[in-house]
Amino acid sequence: MNLAKLLRRKPLESYNNDIKTSELRRTLGKWELTAIGVGAVIGGGIFVLTGVAANQYAGPALALSFVLAGLGCLFAAFCYAEFASILPVSGSAYAYSYGTMGEFFAWFIGWNLILEYMMGATTVAVSWSRYFVKLLHLSGIHHVPAWLVNDPVTAKEEALRAGVEVPAFSVNLPAALIVWVVTYILVKGIRESAKTNNIIVSLKVAAVLFVVIVGVLYINPANWQPFIPERVIDASGTGHYGLSGVLTAAGIVFFAFIGFDAVSTQSQEAVNPVKDIPFAIITSLVVCTGLYILVSLTLTGMANYKDLDLGAPVASAFSSVGLNWASLLVTIAAVIGLISVMLVMLLSQTRIFLNMAQDGLLPRKLFAAVHPRFKTPWKSTILLGAVASFVAAVTPIEKATKMTSIGTLFAFAMICAAVLVLRKKQPDLHRPYKVKYLPLVAGLGLGFNMLLMFSLDKSTWLRLLVWSIAGIAVYFLYSAKNSNLNRVEKNNQSQDNYGL
Ligand code: ALA
Repeated sequence: MNLAKLLRRKPLESYNNDIKTSELRRTLGKWELTAIGVGAVIGGGIFVLTGVAANQYAGPALALSFVLAGLGCLFAAFCYAEFASILPVSGSAYAYSYGTMGEFFAWFIGWNLILEYMMGATTVAVSWSRYFVKLLHLSGIHHVPAWLVNDPVTAKEEALRAGVEVPAFSVNLPAALIVWVVTYILVKGIRESAKTNNIIVSLKVAAVLFVVIVGVLYINPANWQPFIPERVIDASGTGHYGLSGVLTAAGIVFFAFIGFDAVSTQSQEAVNPVKDIPFAIITSLVVCTGLYILVSLTLTGMANYKDLDLGAPVASAFSSVGLNWASLLVTIAAVIGLISVMLVMLLSQTRIFLNMAQDGLLPRKLFAAVHPRFKTPWKSTILLGAVASFVAAVTPIEKATKMTSIGTLFAFAMICAAVLVLRKKQPDLHRPYKVKYLPLVAGLGLGFNMLLMFSLDKSTWLRLLVWSIAGIAVYFLYSAKNSNLNRVEKNNQSQDNYGL
């Protein structure tokens, strides 16, 4: 395999063909697309990770961490928006790279997007399981066997902590089952999925606004002092608080922003993708950033950051001011709201697979098969559901979160680079949406996302390495040989050999 083959690019004209031959229905308007973005974004990050981020690293300056993480995402979002307006196809960062950086890079990004979407959905399924168990408790059902609601690693840790016998077998059953529920909805079709999504997103945004509006009445400004607590180093050498703590917390709450780019995977189902996809990407990100800043200020104002709960910080902040009914409402909203995150994540993943299969990089029969009646890529949806469900049943949340983040950060960094390359190589290309000061915006996006990648630990990097090696192996063993571009090259060669 020579370098030219690795760098072969899908001609931009052929994307038009993909758009024309798409069997997917165009049903999504700009607000439905924005709802998909918001639905994918607001989830486990704000409902769960705010606890550890404020309690351990940022203190009341958690809002600042959200600003930093949000800015990093915003730079990447502008780049996504420009690409999405040029190439309104459903393959997201994968498709954009194929037209610009070449086949190997595109494959590699597509492979990493599996971490964002599939692992992201898995992480959220595990968060959902926690809230579900909490809801059971709040409803008076206290005797839920630990081995039925935890992965084996967490079950062992919890048993050791509680001083009870470690269960011989353990599985996170609620996490596994909720993935199947979402898979069922997705197989039935995008129209139904979008409707379901709209209802859930409305509930979720209402719940977040409720947190802010009710919570603001219970804010004690003394809890915001000092806004950035003085830096301390604990006995194990880990640093907390201070400006570096704010940066570490930004790396943690980055997960809360993942998903806005999912809008770009819906291009082939959008009524007017060229205008509406950039609008929806940026609007959903701005809306969520605003809500996150308000929620984090409210939470750290209601309770001292040192008292914020690590498992369910939003609910616990209400309990701490005696509002148990509000705590129950938040838990119910989380249980319902997290479903829409999984819905969008798994939906996006199947659309990327569909694109990769149409290009010949994945088996077409499996990943590009569209159901004759539902018009959905049903086979790949079911396969994805099976894998995500299994992983959710056996993986600790912390590992899943970090893998999701590193894969996403990498994809974001690559997309910032790719949009710059395309501007240089094809400056005259029609760009319905054009980023102003692109070198600065893309440069900041690239730098910021790399910085957040480096804030993740070594073992996460090691897992990324193993994942990448597996991806490279699949590329050389299957994708490089079966890609449409390779077939075209081979045909041209054989015609040359016969003097045609
Ligand atoms: N941003 C999504 C969440 O926080 C992944 O759940």
